[in-house]
Order: sequence, then C-alpha cells, then structure tokens
Amino acid sequence: MRAVTWQGKRDVRVETVPDPKIEQATDAVIKVTSTGLCGSDLHLYEVLTPFMTPGDILGHEPMGIVEEAGSEVPGLKPGDRVVVPFQIACGHCWMCASGLPTQCETTQVREEGMGAALFGYSKLYGSVPGGQAEYLRVPQAQFGPIKVPEGPPDDRFLYLSDVLPTAWQAVRYADVPPGGSVAVLGLGPIGDMCCRIALHQGAAQVVGVDLVPERLQRARERGVEVFDLNGFDSHDGLVDAVKDRTSGRGPDAVIDAVGTEAHGSPLARTQQQAAGLLPKAWAARLHQKAGTDRLAALYLAIDLVRRGGTVSLSGVYGGAADPLPMMTLFDRQIQLRMGQANVRRWVDDILPLLTDEDPLGVDGFATHHVPLADAPHAYKMFQQKQDGAVKVVMRP
Ligand SMILES: NC(=O)c1ccc[n+]([C@@H]2O[C@H](COP(=O)([O-])OP(=O)(O)OC[C@H]3O[C@@H](n4cnc5c(N)ncnc54)[C@H](O)[C@@H]3O)[C@@H](O)[C@H]2O)c1
Ligand SMILES: [Zn+2]
Ligand SMILES: [Zn+2]
Repeated sequence: MRAVTWQGKRDVRVETVPDPKIEQATDAVIKVTSTGLCGSDLHLYEVLTPFMTPGDILGHEPMGIVEEAGSEVPGLKPGDRVVVPFQIACGHCWMCASGLPTQCETTQVREEGMGAALFGYSKLYGSVPGGQAEYLRVPQAQFGPIKVPEGPPDDRFLYLSDVLPTAWQAVRYADVPPGGSVAVLGLGPIGDMCCRIALHQGAAQVVGVDLVPERLQRARERGVEVFDLNGFDSHDGLVDAVKDRTSGRGPDAVIDAVGTEAHGSPLARTQQQAAGLLPKAWAARLHQKAGTDRLAALYLAIDLVRRGGTVSLSGVYGGAADPLPMMTLFDRQIQLRMGQANVRRWVDDILPLLTDEDPLGVDGFATHHVPLADAPHAYKMFQQKQDGAVKVVMRP
C-alpha cells in the first residue's frame, strides 16, 4: 500500500510499504477513506525529530471502512464505517473506566514513561504505524473505533478522531462560567474549533489571538473578537488590549491552542535547532531533560487570564526544564489543566451536533482536500500557512 512516511526533518515521502494485517485478536484493519493533517504532525516534522525513525508512517486522524476484524472485536464487521480516535486504549482498565483513555494502563508506553500509545506519533508513543495510509491496523479495536452512519460525507465525522474531542475537552477544562469570557490563543484547527464550541455552549464573549490573516478572518466570521499578534509591539500591549475588552480583569479562562511552536520565543528556537543537529541519542535526551519549548503562548495565557481564572492547555509541550512563573501562577491563583484529549470520553456529547444543521460548521471546516500523493506538499503548505491552509484532509 501507499503511506506517508517520515524520512527526516521537514522530509515526508509517500512510499510503498507492506499492507497491514491482523496481528492480535483485538485488531481490526480499515481501508482509510479520509485522514487529517494536524498541528501535532508538525511537531514531528520538525521539533520532535530526535524521536522519529526514517520510514515511520505518520497520521492519527483517520476514518474509513472496516476490511477485517479480529475474533475479539465483536462490535465490528467488514463494511462498517468508522472513525478511529488518535489514541489507542483498551476501554476496560482503571484509567479507561475513569474516562482517561489517554492514560490507558494496557497501552501505556512504559519504556518511555509515557501515556497511552498513539497512532503515528514517534517512539515516545509506541512507534505505532499511523493513518496517513491506504490501510491501517487498529489495535484494541474492541474499544477505539466509533461507528458512524452511512450517507453524509466523511468530513461530517472525520474530526471525531481528534479536532472535536480535543477542542471539546479544552473548553470543558476551561470551565467558562455562564455568561463568561474565554480567550483562545492560536486559531489553527484546534483553536478555531474551541471558539466554535465555546460560542455554541453559551460563552458570552470569545476572543481569539493569532497572526495569520486568513485564520483571524475565519474566526471573525463566526463571531469571535480577534486580535492580531502582529498589531502589537509587545506582549504587554496585547495583554492590555484584551483586558480592556474583558471588564479590565482579563478573560475568565484562556485556552492555549498553540503549544510548543509558538512564534515569539527566539531563544528556544536556537535550542531546538541545536537539538536537531546533535546525534540522535543526545538530542532526545536534551529534548526531554532540558528546556526546549517555545513558551510564548503559555506565558501570554498566564498574563491574560483574570485572577482566579483557568488556563486550559491543549497545545502540546515537550520540554522538562522550562522556567514557569510560579510566583505569578500562585499569586494570581490560576488553575492549570491540560492533556491529550480523551476521545471516547466526549464522543457521546459531540455526536448529536454532527447533523445536517451542522452547528459547529464541520462540513466546510477543511480548506484543502488532497490525494495522499500530495502529502509532501500538504505538510509544507500547512507548516508555512500558505494558500489559506487551515485544515488539510487527505483522501487515500
Ligand atoms: N491535546 C490534544 O489532544 C491535542 C490534539 C490535537 C492537537 N493538539 C495541539 O494543539 C496545537 C494546535 O494544533 P492545530 O492543529 O490547531 O495547529 P496549528 O499549528 O495549525 O495552530 C497553531 C496556531 O497558533 C498560532 N500561533 C503561533 N504562535 C502564536 C502565539 N504566540 N500566539 C497566538 N497564536 C500563535 C499559529 O499561527 C497557528 O495558527 C498544537 O500544539 C497541537 O499539537 C493537541
Ligand atoms: Zn491531530
Ligand atoms: Zn485502558
């Protein structure tokens, strides 16, 4: 089959690889019909290079048709239409039973000290072949895949794999009080969807911050009050402007939907580049043990949120020794919540919104649909935010 493989920093290629097969009784194999490109893939493209191996199959936002299901997957049969969550979880361990499938005790990648295995997400998360491919082996298929109805186009359901539950959890964790305000940093697919969900759930005021004109415009069109980072000389200028618009105190909650690739953290950039040039083992260690994050967005979130408010982190961070302003966090009494999205935890809440009325606008959410063969171009376009790319969906 054809699959998108990682070959090196900023180098992905579509190659022919062996077809996946059922390996365990709890596996299924699906024929992928649509598969998303995510901001998280961009970390692998560049910053998380030390954890990647040439040939790794990328992708964690797939949906498709069941080809074959193992003997311990009674709920699926060939021909079923399914969306596959980005994390692999068993559904029956203590963590899964507690609504935390990202921490699944059956699939945790203990060698690396990490939580549940993820599709297509480096050695850190189990080196599981990903879903930007014609076929995908789905481990723990007795729990993961979400059956969806025939009829509507793939885009109606595809975002259940990641974008929707991630944004849903970010908004839930933000805990915006009724009639309250929330600021969303980053208006990529995740931040954009956070704004839509917050508005849908009745936040009185949703503020969005980014620096890409098309992304700001997209959010503005849906009723978000947007701030262009480029319109301010300093961090403080932006903080003051947002506070002015939110009762002088700052928003009740701030969602960081940027993560480790934030613009405006020049020191970290040099460290990251150094990590990319060091021999692999050293670079991986530097990345885990030293401060290599670009924390500009997190610092902004901490300064923006009102005293006693909540910062909800959905952007991915990866360093271990980055300085956090503990005195400010403590004095301002800020709650900080974060983590990978617990996909199955939120699916039943989200499914009723994926109707023809389409309140969250999923049908028109993708800006680009491309064949799998165009993956190298799609990665570059998405990373460089060219051609209005916000969400790219590949069709194998
Ligand atoms: N928690 C989860 O389960 C989960 C799931 C999916 C994605 N993510 C993470 O969420 C983040 C966003 O993902 P995405 O797909 O929307 O990616 P993206 O890269 O398209 O979006 C990031 C956006 O942030 C903007 N930005 C950069 N620096 C900024 C700054 N200093 N202030 C404000 N905005 C800034 C960029 O212009 C971009 O529009 C990534 O870190 C991704 O890894 C987490
Ligand atoms: Zn994703
Ligand atoms: Zn589990």
